[in-house]
Amino acid sequence: MKPTLLYFFGKVQKMKAAGEKVLGFTLTTPEFPPPAFLEQEVAKVYEDSFPYLPSGGDFVFRQQLADFYSTKWKRKFKEENVFVGTGGKEILYILLTLLLKKPEGEIVVISPYWATYPNMVELLKGKIKIVKALAKDDFYPDMDKIAKAITSKTRAVIITSPNNPTGKVIKEKDVKFLADLAKKKDFVLICDEVYEIYNYDNLYVSALKYFNKNVFCVFSASKTYSLCGWRLGWSVGDKDIIKEMIGIQSEATTSPNSIAQLAFRNLFKDTKRLETYFAENMARGKERRDLAVAAFKKAGVEYAHPEGCIAIFVKIPKEFDNAYDFCTELLKKEKISMAPGEIFGEKKYFRMNLAVSITNLKEGLRRVLKYYGN
Ligand SMILES: Cc1ncc(COP(=O)(O)O)c(C=O)c1O
Repeated sequence: MKPTLLYFFGKVQKMKAAGEKVLGFTLTTPEFPPPAFLEQEVAKVYEDSFPYLPSGGDFVFRQQLADFYSTKWKRKFKEENVFVGTGGKEILYILLTLLLKKPEGEIVVISPYWATYPNMVELLKGKIKIVKALAKDDFYPDMDKIAKAITSKTRAVIITSPNNPTGKVIKEKDVKFLADLAKKKDFVLICDEVYEIYNYDNLYVSALKYFNKNVFCVFSASKTYSLCGWRLGWSVGDKDIIKEMIGIQSEATTSPNSIAQLAFRNLFKDTKRLETYFAENMARGKERRDLAVAAFKKAGVEYAHPEGCIAIFVKIPKEFDNAYDFCTELLKKEKISMAPGEIFGEKKYFRMNLAVSITNLKEGLRRVLKYYGN
């Protein structure tokens, strides 16, 4: 099993427990406030939140999500197209469990990748096929290479847009190309769009715009609403796939927690209020993206230009052979924790979470830039 982010994060937790002051940039946990109106919505649903809710998610909430994404991407989704899970992670795990039920299945993953994809495929005894996006292309994936990686055993291609860790956003023409390819070659295009609102250069288009029965999109309350601990995510896909996923969830966890789903049911009654909140978070993210980009650019450091997401993927100084060593040194000497690129399949880069306070971000940048001769 490959090392996970939580392994590195665990080291930070230990240092903190020992009384050391560490500035954390390891996980892409947005340290932005959740919607201010959330607290009152939680209070309203408290009394109703004790029983189980149906597997696949509360029916009203699923319908609200179907309406929300139908309006947003001008398609017609129904409640049966929506599946609610315990975070995007549970949704991906259940979907991959289903797709890898038939033996010898291959899953195409693009590197740099969010580490959980290959780890999940490995756990589920599937075969991982990595398609490398290259630094010379600013880590934008090559569509021809993806198309060439498809075989009769391909069960899914996973794309992440906006991407974690690189911040790249898949262009609309490529989203359409992949959605069409999925239908033609009969694999599932899994589109991890959990960073949907962090779209700084106005490039993001959901694959829902080109929806067909082979397209499956994943979203999350963790990133969009800064509610990582609530463990709530949702997805839109083919109703037959979702029916089978409900069967798996029903045996695994029954359903995601009731209080979060019921509070969200209230939030989705007023989507205008939500759009205002998204715009505020987007502005927070963009301010930090601009600040980090300016600092690395000024210092002549190589990085992938983040068009979205809440992180930046940066080349390690040439004195270091690999990002593990560099991040270990940063942690030991500078008391800042970054995510080493090995975890994402790219050992010469590290990832820095940008969704922290401006003060901490500036301080983190100051400490890391010392290593680039500044
Ligand atoms: C690309 C990506 N997908 C999915 C997730 C899972 O999010 P959650 O399970 O908290 O909804 C994360 C979390 O870091 C992520 O970065």
